[in-house]
Amino acid sequence: MIQKVGTLEDRIKASRENALKNTLATDGPPLNVQLPSFYIDRMRELGKKYRPIRWLPLDIPRIDFDDVDEFLDIWEKEKQPSVRIKPSAAEPYEKDDHPTGKDSSWYVAPFNNITLWRNPELTPEVRDNFWALHDTSQKYKIFDKLVEQVFEYYPIHTFSLIYIWQSTEEIIPHQDGGNFWRSPTEYRTMLYDENEEPTLYVSDIEHGDTHFIDLPKDTNSFCWSNGSQVHGSTYYGKRKFLLVARGFEHSQKVETLIDRSIIKYRDKLNYKLEL
Ligand SMILES: [Fe+2]
Repeated sequence: MIQKVGTLEDRIKASRENALKNTLATDGPPLNVQLPSFYIDRMRELGKKYRPIRWLPLDIPRIDFDDVDEFLDIWEKEKQPSVRIKPSAAEPYEKDDHPTGKDSSWYVAPFNNITLWRNPELTPEVRDNFWALHDTSQKYKIFDKLVEQVFEYYPIHTFSLIYIWQSTEEIIPHQDGGNFWRSPTEYRTMLYDENEEPTLYVSDIEHGDTHFIDLPKDTNSFCWSNGSQVHGSTYYGKRKFLLVARGFEHSQKVETLIDRSIIKYRDKLNYKLEL
């Protein structure tokens, strides 16, 4: 667990060193989730193919609210702080033995959230996150279209959760707790952002190069690999809302989408994608 000491570069370096030592963050499915070996092999193959990717815009239509003001009103009414509710492979500490004690994410919520959808057919152990989520499923019509678009465009076979997060402070560099494939595992849509410069960044665990996610205008969705990158976010007191969808990737849909996105965006990236 990296604390807010030193420069951003210091924190990223410490986070990368942590990731390199973490034997739970394997090139595989989430801890304690059984998946067929043919699927694991296939995702590892994609991991080899896509290892050079740091981050990548997705070649899917923009996902936007019809009425942003309506969303902002709902957000102010419904937002709830997200504190940790269980340890993860990336942060495997129980509440009472976390190295940062009362400053840990068990006590201090780095995000506000509302949850738009959760899969009723999965058990809570498989479905639910490491964070307290606030379920507004089916309460607001404005989210229905958003969820439909995520179902249609994201390369996920079985969705578990769809939610919106707003960071309320600097997010220190870290790995998420779910999938650790070297192929893209993290799919996000930037729904609304008042910042004038990019704030979310990824840093390659093995090679140490850091890149801010600087989106083109024609898409607000993007991805990176939680197995090959740590990620974090700077904070300037401005509002920013990220849609996060969790689940199990559809390997063929991943390949089709990533190949198409590379063709469309490879020359618009802030790093050289050798692929
Ligand atoms: Fe994260």
